[in-house]
Amino acid sequence: MVLVDHPLVRVHIGALRDRHAGTDEFRRHLTALARLLAYPALADLPTEAFSIETPLAQTTGQRLRRVPILVPVLRAGLGLVEGFADVIPDAMVSHLGMYRDHATLKPVRYYSNFPQDRHNHPFILLDPMLATGGSASDALDYLKSEGAEDIRLVCVIAAPEGVARVETRHPGVPIYTAQLDERLDERGYILPGLGDAGDRQFGTI
Ligand code: PRP
Ligand code: URA
Repeated sequence: MVLVDHPLVRVHIGALRDRHAGTDEFRRHLTALARLLAYPALADLPTEAFSIETPLAQTTGQRLRRVPILVPVLRAGLGLVEGFADVIPDAMVSHLGMYRDHATLKPVRYYSNFPQDRHNHPFILLDPMLATGGSASDALDYLKSEGAEDIRLVCVIAAPEGVARVETRHPGVPIYTAQLDERLDERGYILPGLGDAGDRQFGTI
């Protein structure tokens, strides 16, 4: 797990935790965090040299070998798309619909849409909350079954239980998180956490 620590990251996390933050503020801070997380999460993307002409001479530039595919997990992962797209505007976006059953805490997959041309592209799985890790593990199984090989998971707040589950089941997938919290409560919510990230973004509380 890579803990992305930066003064601005800490400021935005504090703002998200505040129960009095409304949907507009919540989305704004989540987008700002996504922008800050994008740089470390994308730092090792493979590049290739190509020939360019400056006004004065011939030289070589660098471009991404393959543009990444952003995979927001609906609904909460949507809040990370804008910040990533600010940093890498030509990224593809593939949505993965999934919710956690409130009684069993087991993930239920209900939608996916991936481009035909996805092989050899890096996949960036986006979900702000890594709680039990059930949703992320299932999403990673699914991405692998769709042919994904190079995958990174980006979240905002992770619980130790979720990190352990993903690292055990998907040891080759790096996890980037802005915060590692204390634990889960009896309903599977992260403590101290920020509540339900989907509801807080979309006002469905
Ligand atoms: C949240 C969150 C993750 C999942 C994390 O989604 O966005 O996808 O819970 O929990 P887990 O690690 O225990 O699986 P939720 O089920 O609330 O769906 P929503 O985003 O549509 O509200
Ligand atoms: N999903 C959320 O949105 N928040 C939590 O604390 C746990 C799962």
